[in-house]
Amino acid sequence: MAFLTLAVLASAAADPTVFDPKVLQSTQLRGLGSDPFSEPERENRWLKDISTSTKNYFKKVLAPLQTPIVQEFQVLTILESYVNYTMDKVENATGYAVIWNRTHRMLMEETEETFDASGRSLYGRRRRPIGEKNLPPRARYINKILMYLNKEMDLLWNYNTIIDRKRWGVGNTITSSPYGPHGEHPERWRANGSFPVPIAPNHTILLQESADVQQTKIKLRVKADEKKFTNKYALQLQADYYSLVDNINDASEKISDLRNRLWKMNDFADQFIVLPSGVWNKIDAQV
Ligand SMILES: *[C@@H]1O[C@H](CO)[C@@H](O)[C@H](O)[C@H]1NC(C)=O
Ligand SMILES: *[C@@H]1O[C@H](CO)[C@@H](O)[C@H](O)[C@H]1NC(C)=O
Ligand SMILES: *[C@@H]1O[C@H](CO)[C@@H](O)[C@H](O)[C@H]1NC(C)=O
Ligand SMILES: *[C@@H]1O[C@H](CO)[C@@H](O)[C@H](O)[C@H]1NC(C)=O
Ligand SMILES: *[C@@H]1O[C@H](CO)[C@@H](O)[C@H](O)[C@H]1NC(C)=O
Repeated sequence: MAFLTLAVLASAAADPTVFDPKVLQSTQLRGLGSDPFSEPERENRWLKDISTSTKNYFKKVLAPLQTPIVQEFQVLTILESYVNYTMDKVENATGYAVIWNRTHRMLMEETEETFDASGRSLYGRRRRPIGEKNLPPRARYINKILMYLNKEMDLLWNYNTIIDRKRWGVGNTITSSPYGPHGEHPERWRANGSFPVPIAPNHTILLQESADVQQTKIKLRVKADEKKFTNKYALQLQADYYSLVDNINDASEKISDLRNRLWKMNDFADQFIVLPSGVWNKIDAQV
C-alpha cells in the first residue's frame, strides 16, 4: 500500500493535468516577484529601474560635464568685463548712460533677434529632463544630476543674453547718435552724470587677431559617450545626457560668436568716440 501511494504521487508531479496551476499565485511565490513565465520584454522591462552599474555609468559620464560649463561661465565673465568696458567708453564720450535693459519693447526686439534661420530660439529652448515623480530611485538620482546641470546651463544662457543685450544697447546709442557723441548742437551738450574713462580689460581671450598673437580659441567640443541600452529609463536618461552635451557645445559656439560681435562693437565704439560732434557721421553699428 505504501509503495502504491508513492507511485501515484510521483506520477502526479509529472502530469500537467494533476499539477495545480494556482500554485504560482500562492502568497509565498508571489514574494519572489513576477511570474517567471511571462514575457519580461513585454511588461517589466518598461517599469524596472536602471541597474546599479547603469547608474554608475551615468554618474561617470555626467560628472566631467561640470568642467566645460564652468569654463563657459569664466569666458562669459571676461566677455562681460569687455562689454562693460565698451559701454563705459561710450558713456564717457556721450555723458549719458547706455540704456540696455529698460523697456519691455527692447526685450521684445531682443527676443526676436534670438531666433536663428530655422526659427529655433537661440536661448533657453532646451529639452527638459523627465519629471521627478514616478521615477524609480536610481533613475531619479541620475535625473536629479541632469536637472542640476540643466539649471546651470539656463543660467549660462541668461548670462549670455545679458551680455548680448548690453552690446545691443551700445550699438543703439552709436547708431542713434549720427552727429557724434555730443549731438547735433554740441555747444548745448551737458553730461548727465559722471562717467570716468574705463580701464581696458586685459585678457588673452579678448585679443583680436594680430600679427604676433594667435587668436585664442574659446570653442570647446564635448564628445558624448555612446552606449546601448534597452531599459526605458536608461534610454530616456541617455537622451537627456545627449541633449545636455549638445547644449554645452552649442553654448560654446554662441559664446564664440558673441565674442566676435563684441569685437566688432568695440571697433564701432572706438570709431564713434573720436568723431567730431555736430557733423553728420552716422555709423550703423547694428548690422
Ligand atoms: C559689469 O558691469 C556691471 C554693472 O556695472 C557689474 O555689476 C558687473 O560686475 C560688471 N561685470 C564684470 C565682469 O566686470
Ligand atoms: C537693468 O540694469 C540695471 C543697471 O544696469 C540693473 O540695476 C537692473 O537690475 C537691470 N535689470 C535687469 C532686468 O537686468
Ligand atoms: C539723466 O540721469 C538721471 C539720473 O541718473 C536719469 O534718471 C535720467 O534718465 C538721465 N537722462 C537721460 C536722458 O539719460
Ligand atoms: C570722461 O573721462 C574723463 C577721464 O576720466 C573725465 O575727465 C571726464 O569727465 C569723463 N566724462 C564724463 C562725461 O564723465
Ligand atoms: C596685461 O596682463 C599681462 C599678464 O598678466 C601683464 O604682463 C601686462 O602688464 C598687463 N597689461 C596691462 C596694460 O595691464
